[in-house]
Order: sequence, then structure tokens, then C-alpha cells
Amino acid sequence: MDWWSNSSIYQVYPRSFQDTNGDGEGDLVGVISRLSYLKSLGIDAIWLSPFYLSPNNDGGYDVQDPRTVDPRFGSMEDAVNLIKAAHRSDLRIIVDLVPNHFSTEHQWFKAALKSLPGSLERSRFHFYDGKGEGGAIPPNNWCSIFGGPAWSRVIEADGKPGQWYLHLFDSTQADLNWENNEVKEDFEKTLRFWLDKGVDGFRIDVAQGLVKEEIFKDHRDPEGLTRALRLDVSDMDRFERESLLADVPFFDNEGVHEIYRSWRKILDSYSGQRMSVAEAWVHPSSRAMRYVRSDELHQIFNFDFLIAPWDAEFLVSAINKTLSEVGQVGASPTWVLSNHDSPRLVSRLGGGELGRQRAKAMALLTHGLPGGIYIYQGEELGLEDGQLEDKDRQDPVFFRTKGVDKGRDGARIPIPWSSQLSNYGFTTTKPWLPIPSDWQDHCVEAQVDGDSHLALYRRSLHMRKLLSRQLPTSNEITWIDTPKEVLAFSRGDDFLLYANTGGESLELKLKSDSQIILASSAQAQLTSGTLTLPAESTVWLGKITK
Ligand code: GLC
Ligand code: CA
Repeated sequence: MDWWSNSSIYQVYPRSFQDTNGDGEGDLVGVISRLSYLKSLGIDAIWLSPFYLSPNNDGGYDVQDPRTVDPRFGSMEDAVNLIKAAHRSDLRIIVDLVPNHFSTEHQWFKAALKSLPGSLERSRFHFYDGKGEGGAIPPNNWCSIFGGPAWSRVIEADGKPGQWYLHLFDSTQADLNWENNEVKEDFEKTLRFWLDKGVDGFRIDVAQGLVKEEIFKDHRDPEGLTRALRLDVSDMDRFERESLLADVPFFDNEGVHEIYRSWRKILDSYSGQRMSVAEAWVHPSSRAMRYVRSDELHQIFNFDFLIAPWDAEFLVSAINKTLSEVGQVGASPTWVLSNHDSPRLVSRLGGGELGRQRAKAMALLTHGLPGGIYIYQGEELGLEDGQLEDKDRQDPVFFRTKGVDKGRDGARIPIPWSSQLSNYGFTTTKPWLPIPSDWQDHCVEAQVDGDSHLALYRRSLHMRKLLSRQLPTSNEITWIDTPKEVLAFSRGDDFLLYANTGGESLELKLKSDSQIILASSAQAQLTSGTLTLPAESTVWLGKITK
């Protein structure tokens, strides 16, 4: 089996993980200093969000040089040391690759600004003349996913407003033109650069976006579309949203697959099972499987659980859909509960103690499914989104939507390690985002007792490993008949999972003679074949030999 097929991969957002040089921002040496913590969780690999040279307008997803380490995170030597130290602890390292755009500080963009319309330098990006009198209207009406127009106009050498360039995200993230061979070659160079340094894989940012085929096609509702894409959907009709997402001119074009086939060849040419995972939001979700055909990428994040309500019926259909879709192309399923772009799981499931209880149950459900899981730093601590004042916000989404969308900073607050140390042991100085003053109980150090969020994650992650050795290697699950607020399934003869998404504790008669091996609630019990399944909880049953 490939190592990623049933692995637990932990996302480190380096800026918010651990500061070691007292500048208020996490760094690579900080990640090294916490490797024993990461190892103790029972994970298999670490995915690092970008740490490359960047003006940091979008948390490093605005890359100025993909083959250089940003001094804010340390040096190339630190990166190599991190890869080596992780490998000594038997942890793999996945790094981010951001192929949709470069920072406008990248030397290519600077060269493009100094060059003439139609030049080679400009052809690496999407530069076009505007429409209307004097070219004052952007080439099309697309909006940036972060809000505002998707085009910005440059000043030409003669000092006059000139061409426009495309940026699906911030205006400092210029979209690359993948029809240009130099772009292709440069990314192949970056892949090899990090593979040679020993990384085990890549997370591909905006993997659905690289190829733009319909630049001159206006969209019928560009603003609605970008809201739908930002998940800012509270007041949007569900059908309208679906129909908008089904027709995105700049996403999921056929040409992207040729790029992934060429990358797959590079990955396969290295020894040691190197992998890739796509961040690709596509609609309908069945199209996602095209990214993980056997000669393309290895995994694709399954975001169904990232937006799923805590509702048995919804979860059952999401699980069925995922298993059947990946099954068709022979890829392994993945499950994602949170990441640096989404609200924290506890907040999304209602916040407070109830949110925390549900988040534990949701995690235990997810960790009991076949396939690979992705955990975002702090998810294991049961953190909520931190409340921030507008003056502290840094996400370009907040600025580009003029504060209508508060952005993603709440989920990016630094990790609280210790309640004894100032700034929770994250830094010795002011952290780059303020850490809430009431997080003492959520610190790593404070979560020693067996009922804590952290203890549950540790147990379930370790037990997953045992399970993956003892359960059938197929991704098959068998559903068990239950009341409608419960979902239950078995995997092989030795593992059963029951999740109660309802607000009432239930008594269920079980047919098999299993025992409880793990539960998200201390009130779960099994006596003479009757399972007490507490409200908002998940229970694992089985005969697992340690
Ligand atoms: C991805 C990243 C997100 C970033 C965007 C633009 O969605 O996860 O953080 O803002 O791409 O690069
Ligand atoms: Ca630092």
C-alpha cells in the first residue's frame, strides 16, 4: 500500500506554529522544536504551508521566489534541517506549490512591467488591452475571489495607464499563463528543487485554476460567483449557488490535466514514494476524480466534510458519494475537517462546549473512515476561531471586500502551548495576531487529562494506525440500520462505528459481541449487548489487539 492511502497528515501554518527568534511570527526552527509533539500525536506526515520568499500579502501564497526561504521563516539550511529531522522521526514532509500565480514582486512580473505590450516578458502572465475608449474597461467582467475586480491596470513606460493583468486573488498575485513554456519549465524546476532536498510530496494550491481558456467571456453574475466560491453563502439560494459553481469560466478547464500528467512523471522518477495532493474545488464534485486518475495526482482534498453540518443524513450521503467516486479511479479517499482558509471546526459546529463536543464526535467519525485524513494545526486542541478586532486583521479578503467578509484570520491565530509562559509560549514578544486571553484551558500543556480534545486525538490517531493494519485493505464500509439521527457502519468483522448527531442519548441493541474501544463522550457504555450512545457523540467498537 502507498504510504498516503491511510495516512494522517498534519497541516502546519508555519507563521502561527512556534516562534523561536522573538519576532512574533512562527519559523522553521520552531517547527523543528515541536517535532516531538507532532510525533506524539501519531501522525504520519506534515504539510507545511508556504515558507518561500514572499511579501506576505496573502500569508505566503503570494510567492516571490519558490526556491528561496523567506527570512521571516529562517534559511534554506533550516528547511533542510527540518526535512532531515522529520525523517529521523519517521515523519514525511509535504510542501506547498502555488502554480496559479506569482507575487507581483517576482522578478518575472517586474520584468513584465518594464517591457512592452506583446513582449515575451508579458506573455508569462495574462496581460491584455482594455475595452472601450482608451482601453479603460477591463478585458472581461470577472471578479477576484477575494472581492473587487480580477484585473488591475498598469502604468506603461510613457507614464500613461496601459494594459491590464489578471489576478483571480489579490492584486499582488498575478495569474500565470500556462500556455507559456517557460512557466511550465520553471515549475518543473521547482518540483525537482524540493524533491532533491528530500520532500515527500506537494500540496497543489488552486489546482483547478491554472488554465484559462475563455478570457474574453464575461460572466453573467461575477460578484455572485466569487461569493459562492468564498463559501460566503448564508444568504444565497442553494440552487443558484450550484448553478453558479457549475459554470466557472476560469476553473477546471481540460488543459490542467496535461500539466498534472507531466508532474506525475517527475514524481514517479524519484525513489521513495513521492506524492501530490490537489486543492481543487470543482463542481459537480464528481469532476474532482479526474485529478486523481492513475497518471495524474495522488490525492485530492475532499472538502465535503469541511462544509458538512453535523447531521447523520448529510454525512451518510457525503461518505457514500466520496467512496464511490474515488473507487471509480482507484484513488484513496481523503477527509478534511478544517484548514487555514475555513472557520475552525468547533466554531462551525456551534461553538462553545456544544461545538467542542460535536467536533470531537466529528473527528472520531472521520478518523474511523477508510482513507487518509488531514488535520489543521490546533484542530486537535479543539480551538475556536479567535475573535479579532478589525484593526488586527491581515487577510486580503477583509480589505478587498471592504470588511463585508471578515476573512480567515480567526482560524490563523497562533498555537497556545503553555498557560504558564507569556503569550502561551508561542513567542516572547507580541504575536502577529493577538491570542485570546481565555485560552488557558486549551493550551497543549493544559490538556493532559484523558477527557481532553488532545487526548482523544492522540488516542484515535494511534488507534487508526493499528486499525489500518488489522482491517481489510479495501475502502468498503457496510452501513448498519439505525434511527435517523444516527449513522453506523462496520469495516470488516472487527470494527464498528456509531455516531449520534442528535441531542438525545439513545439505547441501541447490538447484534455483535464487541467492546467499546474509543468514545468521544465518557458517558458511552455497553452493557449486555445494549449500547448507550450519548447525544452528539461517536463510539468505536471492536476487537482490536494492541
Ligand atoms: C488557496 C490557499 C489560500 C490562498 C489561495 C490563493 O486557496 O489555500 O490560502 O489564499 O489559494 O493562493
Ligand atoms: Ca520567528
